[in-house]
Amino acid sequence: MPSHEALILGKKRGLFEIRAVPDTAPGTDEILVSVRAVAVNPFERLIQSVGDIITPYMIYPAILGSDVAGEVIAVGSNITRFRVGDRVAGFAAGAEKGRRSAEGGFQEQVILLEKMTTPLPDDLSFEAGSVLPLALTTAASGLFQSDFLGMRHPSTQPVSTGQTLIVWGGSTSVGCNAIQLAVAAGYDVITTSSLHNAPYLKSLGARVVYDRHCPSTPSVMIEELRGREVCGALTIGTGSAKACIDILGASKGQRFIALATPPGSFDEIPAGRGRWQKLIPALMWIVAGNISLTLRARRKGVKTKFIWGGSALHNDVGPMIYREFLPSVLESGQFRPAPEPEIVGHGLEVIPEALERQRKGVSARKLVVTLGPR
Ligand SMILES: NC(=O)c1ccc[n+]([C@@H]2O[C@H](COP(=O)([O-])OP(=O)(O)OC[C@H]3O[C@@H](n4cnc5c(N)ncnc54)[C@H](OP(=O)(O)O)[C@@H]3O)[C@@H](O)[C@H]2O)c1
Repeated sequence: MPSHEALILGKKRGLFEIRAVPDTAPGTDEILVSVRAVAVNPFERLIQSVGDIITPYMIYPAILGSDVAGEVIAVGSNITRFRVGDRVAGFAAGAEKGRRSAEGGFQEQVILLEKMTTPLPDDLSFEAGSVLPLALTTAASGLFQSDFLGMRHPSTQPVSTGQTLIVWGGSTSVGCNAIQLAVAAGYDVITTSSLHNAPYLKSLGARVVYDRHCPSTPSVMIEELRGREVCGALTIGTGSAKACIDILGASKGQRFIALATPPGSFDEIPAGRGRWQKLIPALMWIVAGNISLTLRARRKGVKTKFIWGGSALHNDVGPMIYREFLPSVLESGQFRPAPEPEIVGHGLEVIPEALERQRKGVSARKLVVTLGPR
């Protein structure tokens, strides 16, 4: 049986290893892609260390990886939008509930859903294309799903809504995509980051960038928003929700926060030795943080809801982004793959190193590993 190599997570909280896996033919609404670049996300390293908590449905051996760019090598019988040889970027759905390991991005060939894939213009590298999928899908889920901020959809000719969106954590991958999506939908965007990233976020369309480290930033933002109408906030990064509850509680407009980050972190939990000593306090911190956030939000009349990035797979937001919006704006340069890719190395064996570097932290950069012929 023909096979290719994949980075496998053999069991929950196991180590990654490279193994041969059988090639899979695409289903009717799927395409098969030869992977040329993958990006890494906090999600993938968290699945390795705390997958039993955040993705209890995961079947092992598993193949992780959501962010893929490559070349189409086969198409399903319903596919008219792609042909063999096309360059594409897409959301690899292997880590979503009910999907299969052939859809995990960390392998030489991946199955992508047509509705979650965009053509990649010739002037965009595979590395650039790979930074898009999970962060873009997460941002779009929070902004456009009707049970979240329910914002107007993006277009090539945005008409101003007169409303302001707050993106707390604009230099994250999710934030860079949220800024561009909201601007393309006709919203004014104010955001936060470390100040060295301010010029970059303005180049993506943010009107004002505040220092996320400065204690007075929430009160300065409240002043800035006086007399304006807000459409809510997308909060990314630890501490972001608390700040935005206070800002929205003092502002006019929709008091709703789409939360990308839980109030507490699993970042320092090891998969093996010493796990329980770190996990129990982290879980207690998250539960306590949730209760305190809920009470604070209720007091200020603000609604909050956690985003699950992959949820756009199951509603109209995924196809709206990947079929209708992205192809033309990537072609015209109106939407930029952001943040910039930083190549960690070449080959599946480099992915664990990229995940470890991701854990140590990046600033307005997406870590990428290239695959296939150089
Ligand atoms: N819910 C979901 O479905 C979903 C999906 C994807 C990601 N996420 C979550 O979204 C968050 C961001 O993920 P990502 O991949 O976009 O991250 P990333 O690109 O790795 O984030 C790097 C950036 O984080 C910023 N940052 C660090 N701590 C922060 C804080 N406390 N508040 C605001 N910004 C902070 C840094 O900003 P400066 O360098 O400018 O200081 C840096 O530019 C993570 O918590 C991740 O788990 C959730």
